[in-house]
Amino acid sequence: MGDAQFLRAQFATMFGRAATLYQAPGRVNLIGEHTDYNDGFVLPAAIDLACWVAAARREDGKLRIYSANVQESVESDLGRGPQRRSGKWWDYPLGVAWALQEAGYRLHGADLYVRGDVPLGAGLSASAAIEVSVGYALLDLFGCAIDRTRLALACQRAENEFVGMRCGIMDQFISCHGQAGHALLLDCRSLEHRAARLPDGLRLVVCNTMVRHSLAASEYNVRRMQCEEGVKRLAEVLPQIRSLRDVTHEDLQRHRDRLSDTVYRRCRHVVTENDRVQRFASALERGDRISLKQLMADSHRSLRDDYEVSCAELDLMVDVASQQTGLLGARMTGGGFGGCTINLVEAVHARNFQSGVAAAYRAATRKDPDIYLCEAADGAGRRND
Ligand code: GLA
Repeated sequence: MGDAQFLRAQFATMFGRAATLYQAPGRVNLIGEHTDYNDGFVLPAAIDLACWVAAARREDGKLRIYSANVQESVESDLGRGPQRRSGKWWDYPLGVAWALQEAGYRLHGADLYVRGDVPLGAGLSASAAIEVSVGYALLDLFGCAIDRTRLALACQRAENEFVGMRCGIMDQFISCHGQAGHALLLDCRSLEHRAARLPDGLRLVVCNTMVRHSLAASEYNVRRMQCEEGVKRLAEVLPQIRSLRDVTHEDLQRHRDRLSDTVYRRCRHVVTENDRVQRFASALERGDRISLKQLMADSHRSLRDDYEVSCAELDLMVDVASQQTGLLGARMTGGGFGGCTINLVEAVHARNFQSGVAAAYRAATRKDPDIYLCEAADGAGRRND
């Protein structure tokens, strides 16, 4: 039985009727890390690891959700206003229902059966996948026209205001707008975007360090504050700037003495990373493999030394990858402090790359890494299979 049939059968057993199926992907980010909340540029790709939702409407205003991953259900009354944040997995789907209602959509009720294969806490946006798949399902079930950008913004709002994580727009946006075979160059200020075709014969190989440091959430917010601090100080002499997106490398050098060393290095990461995203996108267009590799290496180094969001395991994973055949570029991906690296690998070498990295990482850490050979996938949608 395929995934789709299995989910339909599970739904029928649990809720006693037929379901419509939806899916939204997780993501990797090829380059442009910690730039989204600075109004900058990112270049993520949706991947073929996803969250699935089997869903059917109810007319009584109740939202019942079952998670096959945690084997738990939750029920909420949509007419009764928002529930309070609980710190549990259901904050994501309930937060999305709340944000969609806040955005003016009229939702009634629904039964949802949710199952995801994006690994949790690995920096591949399992949370965006559940938000977007549930949001898409609710809109489609009630016949609302789906505007993918509005959906992404509602999901980001759910995460910011309901779940309590101050993420940028990248993860939800790519889960909505992904395109098979492409990455997406996104301007996080204007939300203008364009698909960037990935070279043929390339695999997106995602290597999970299997570590997640407890620092991830708190340090993310610290980095955001340091960027805001940088903007505040620089705006005293550069009144036209609104965010680090508006600061050039020359500005930053000229006014360096206004910033503490730490804030200066945080700003330098963001300013140089924005530039790397643009150069990476044009290197992709030209098929310039040498530049791709160099830019990914520079990005990793900048995240490690200036932004200080890498960790020993991520550095090691990048290091062992660089010793394998067929590598076009490697760096940490996502928020950092553990999680995954993204590796662009020639498809013919992907299997050997996978076993070579796994063996070297295991030898050095005694941990078995999960390594996924991914393709760039489409964004959220209804499944008709
Ligand atoms: C997390 C956030 C994103 C982005 C990245 C870092 O994945 O959810 O918005 O800030 O970290 O690039």
